[in-house]
Amino acid sequence: MIERDKLDAGAETPQIMPQFKYSTLAVHAGQQPDPLTGAVNVPVYLSSTFELTGIGESKGWDYSRAGNPTRDRLEEALAALEGGTSGHAFASGMAAIYALVATLHSGDHLICSHNVYGGTARLFNLIVRHYGIEIEYVDTSKPEKVAGAIKPNTKLIHVETPTNPLMVLTDIAAICEIAHAKGVEVSVDNTFMSPALQSPIALGADVVMHSTTKFLNGHSDGLGGALIGTKPEHKDRFLLVQKAAGGILSPFECFLVLRGIKTLPLRMKQHEENGRAVADFLATQPKVTRLNYPGLKSHPQHALAAKQQRGFGSMLSFDLGGRDSVERFLRALKLFLNAESLGGVESLASHSATTTHAALNDAERAAVGITDGLVRLSIGIEDKEDLVADLDQALKAV
Ligand SMILES: Cc1ncc(COP(=O)(O)O)c(C=O)c1O
Repeated sequence: MIERDKLDAGAETPQIMPQFKYSTLAVHAGQQPDPLTGAVNVPVYLSSTFELTGIGESKGWDYSRAGNPTRDRLEEALAALEGGTSGHAFASGMAAIYALVATLHSGDHLICSHNVYGGTARLFNLIVRHYGIEIEYVDTSKPEKVAGAIKPNTKLIHVETPTNPLMVLTDIAAICEIAHAKGVEVSVDNTFMSPALQSPIALGADVVMHSTTKFLNGHSDGLGGALIGTKPEHKDRFLLVQKAAGGILSPFECFLVLRGIKTLPLRMKQHEENGRAVADFLATQPKVTRLNYPGLKSHPQHALAAKQQRGFGSMLSFDLGGRDSVERFLRALKLFLNAESLGGVESLASHSATTTHAALNDAERAAVGITDGLVRLSIGIEDKEDLVADLDQALKAV
């Protein structure tokens, strides 16, 4: 019989296949053949409950909210890809962020990057704030502002880099140094880069967060989220939240993410190549202003992106001057889909003010620079010439 400790390598993650490089890890970490059958794919253990071997004794699992063999494998893979010591899969990216702050106490102070995904701000402003947790939005792209904002009750600095949709970067190493000197932990939302292009833990981060819905899964089918911790205390804490609050990822969606992860390095290479091609094209277009792509030398944080990322990714945004122009542009697109979300194999275009950032009011959007003319693109893995041709013809309609 399989003992759980043969499958659940969460605690031993740093030792998992340390001899292998990233693409090998993506295919194999957590994805070893099934010990029972030899199946090369991780089985989907659709079992809510597990037969116990005695009172208080089990083969490692008792109830799927607390732990499931398919989820264990995904969590092992995620921890290995991010270089953490434990991975924890949640029902969505938002469920993961909720889990991250669930164990803060009333009176604690949380610092958050000031232009983050609108859903993060919605969670913090409309729910978490009511628990008596003090939330302060700070421009984390300026380390000195973070240093000035830390207070004796600051428990966590949550950073999104690059930000959705304005592609503003935060210097992870600089923020971690400032935070750690004051005993404060740093969590990084690594959704836009994926572990293939950015390793926050190697730069000092304590916790990495993902919406696995995006690049990690990569096929726009399952939602999911993850936290990757670096300390035994994180493992205890996030396991507790999984078990106590229950916002865990289903075995089938764990399987989808495991499958997606195998091709992550390959997909990211194509995303990256296409992202650069599209950015280079848009940079030549007179109707396009405020083009935000850190891979362009004109991006104010290009040097930081080149230093802390292993590529520039395939997310970008730009301004078309107003909502009507965006409407004409989105309607004219033939290949790009006018849809929210990102990180899938297909290219998407969206109007940030009415989609990802609809939760902010006009003043809040204006304060972070999300205008009515802003368009966000998630560049997929199609042929880059087809993508550029589609954008070219749609821009003519603006
Ligand atoms: C940067 C970022 N973080 C978190 C989330 C939330 O993830 P989910 O939609 O899986 O809940 C999103 C969603 O778009 C995102 O873009």
